[in-house]
Amino acid sequence: MFAKRTNWNLEANRLSAALAAHRAAGKPLIDLTVSNPTECGFQYDEEAILSALRNPAGLKYEPNPRGLAVARSAVAQYYAERGSVVLADDIFLTTSTSEAYSYVFRTLCNPGDEVLIPEPSYPLFEFLADIQDVRLVRYPLVYDYGWQIDFHALGQAITPRTRGVIVVHPNNPTGHFMKLGEMRKLSEICAAREIAIIADEVFLDFALGDKRHATFATNSGALTFTMSGLSKSCGLPQMKAAWLIVSGPASSKAQAFARLEVIADTYLSMNAPIQWALPTLLGLRQQFQMQLMGRVRENLAELDRQLAGQKSCSRLEVEGGWNAVIRVPAIRSDEELALELLATKGAHVHPGHFYDFPSEGYVVVSLIASLQDFAIGVKLLLSKS
Ligand SMILES: Cc1ncc(COP(=O)(O)O)c(C=O)c1O
Repeated sequence: MFAKRTNWNLEANRLSAALAAHRAAGKPLIDLTVSNPTECGFQYDEEAILSALRNPAGLKYEPNPRGLAVARSAVAQYYAERGSVVLADDIFLTTSTSEAYSYVFRTLCNPGDEVLIPEPSYPLFEFLADIQDVRLVRYPLVYDYGWQIDFHALGQAITPRTRGVIVVHPNNPTGHFMKLGEMRKLSEICAAREIAIIADEVFLDFALGDKRHATFATNSGALTFTMSGLSKSCGLPQMKAAWLIVSGPASSKAQAFARLEVIADTYLSMNAPIQWALPTLLGLRQQFQMQLMGRVRENLAELDRQLAGQKSCSRLEVEGGWNAVIRVPAIRSDEELALELLATKGAHVHPGHFYDFPSEGYVVVSLIASLQDFAIGVKLLLSKS
């Protein structure tokens, strides 16, 4: 009766089941996996947000597959303020980056075609790929005092069925940005093999250093789809507003654009009030980003303080993003460690395999947890490791 693509095994894994039981029993929980910014105690300008959503212009229906010009111009302005020229005409608005991924997969892939994804990375792609009948092929990121793409392995992973390479910039959870040389090299490979770059830049603004990292949105060497949105840049995932930018050589860009326009026109999924509010909401991002990066810096400093007092664990280099990766002794599986930590100490961390780390010995902690929870949670983790 149902499509094979929806034959998912939806049984909770051991850790999710243990977490649900822990919560159901009403036991206290120190959660070091938090990722919902609206539940992390950040201050939002509620008045400005709510009044932006009351714009009377939103009472009118003006269907536009790319999204309203006023909202696309605000996105173009966002890039201008980062020092990059992106035209409002090259932008599609979508309800989420997940929706943007599905538009891109639909534009590029026949059933069974392949898209390369980084390993480790965020576990978002499996379902997105299944739903679009896309096959995911992993390419490794290697860590050597910092993360980088293994270009040799990436090259070998490309087959005649490869349609695109996903890059997460900066990556989640490794928090590393692609460097200019890597961006150039990737663009050359993709141009030569006639495959697209799909760049997920939802964390682009969250850099720990002073340096502003380049965007893929202006990459013209290969066909490039760059996506981001309000969920991370403004800490407003509930607003369901994101964007997709097409760049690249003129002819493939024009073709991609025409095809995407039909897909977007079929759904017309953006609502009017959020589009009218978008200039205001994007304008509030600095307030949010400053608070968030303040939290990340303090938690990272606390982590380093605690790590300095012991010898068995260390943290990997982090350049940005909302997470830190901690190397733990691989004397048991990371899942066993996470289960034991939850059962005996009431603290919750993500084992590395949640993010497709290829070997044991890694846990991921959220740097946006409250300072108090973070300090207690790390102490409990280190006492178990
Ligand atoms: C790398 C990455 N991309 C995309 C998303 C989802 O973004 P959106 O809410 O716009 O779908 C997340 C969410 O955590 C993420 O980590």
